[in-house]
Amino acid sequence: MSIHSTDLLECIDLRNQAGEEEGRFPRRWYKPVTAVIHSQNGDKRVMKKYPNGVFPLSWYFRLLANHEYRMLIRADGTAFTPSLASRCSDDPWTITYRYIDGIGLKDAFRQSAIPEDFFVKLYASVQQLHRYGIVHLDLGNSGNVLCSTSGDPKIIDFGSALPLYLLPRSIGSWARKRDLLGVLKLWYRFDRRSMPEATLRFFRTNYKKNIYTPKRFLKALKRCLANPSQARQGSSPVAAIIGLFISLLLLTFII
Ligand SMILES: Nc1ncnc2c1ncn2[C@@H]1O[C@H](COP(=O)(O)OP(=O)(O)O)[C@@H](O)[C@H]1O
Ligand SMILES: [Mg+2]
Repeated sequence: MSIHSTDLLECIDLRNQAGEEEGRFPRRWYKPVTAVIHSQNGDKRVMKKYPNGVFPLSWYFRLLANHEYRMLIRADGTAFTPSLASRCSDDPWTITYRYIDGIGLKDAFRQSAIPEDFFVKLYASVQQLHRYGIVHLDLGNSGNVLCSTSGDPKIIDFGSALPLYLLPRSIGSWARKRDLLGVLKLWYRFDRRSMPEATLRFFRTNYKKNIYTPKRFLKALKRCLANPSQARQGSSPVAAIIGLFISLLLLTFII
């Protein structure tokens, strides 16, 4: 199915709909715009438009849009992913796919609307996704999991997904474990009381908080500076990583 951008009758920015007022969380230039649209045949669909700045970024984002489209097509047939992905015929930076009626995981938690078996189903869905030959790689992010109106888990945002056949066996199993630990992270955060003891133990032994992103690194650094004694007691890995970062920074100045 191919959608022409003039087919769009109504367009609601999903980011504003979710209560993220413009200005309070300014849109980052590299983030796609996600909106719900009504196509002329009455379908409610999501339109995701990547930025189309100057070359070579324009090519990079075009590749990203194409990549997410291909991952969605590969996952089509599963009940827990947005189906019927298509590309806009006149805009290579835009993809559209079926809208899922439901709410985000954080909202479902606030409204105490997460069903008892939600995370068991989510875990099984991710295992099924792996059998379809895809790893998602961004499942620890609660924004990428929706709770449908019938209470079923739905997985969205296939921008960082990868086909397993491209990965060497060891990296593939690391990626599958990362996905499953992402689900356990959400389970632990939103409904840890329903976690079986063995699952809880597996999570606690295997989950390592990723502080390698610049934002998380700055947070860890602030914590260290604000409370050096606590940082010394509890976070020697943090200190090691800070050391590594500073050494790398110095190296870039020297070389
Ligand atoms: N198929 C869908 N059905 C309903 N809402 C969706 C769908 N896809 C995305 N959304 C909404 O749009 C938001 C952003 O979508 P996402 O694909 O995660 O974009 P980003 O790459 O910016 O994280 C989601 O958190 C969700 O609220
Ligand atoms: Mg997302």
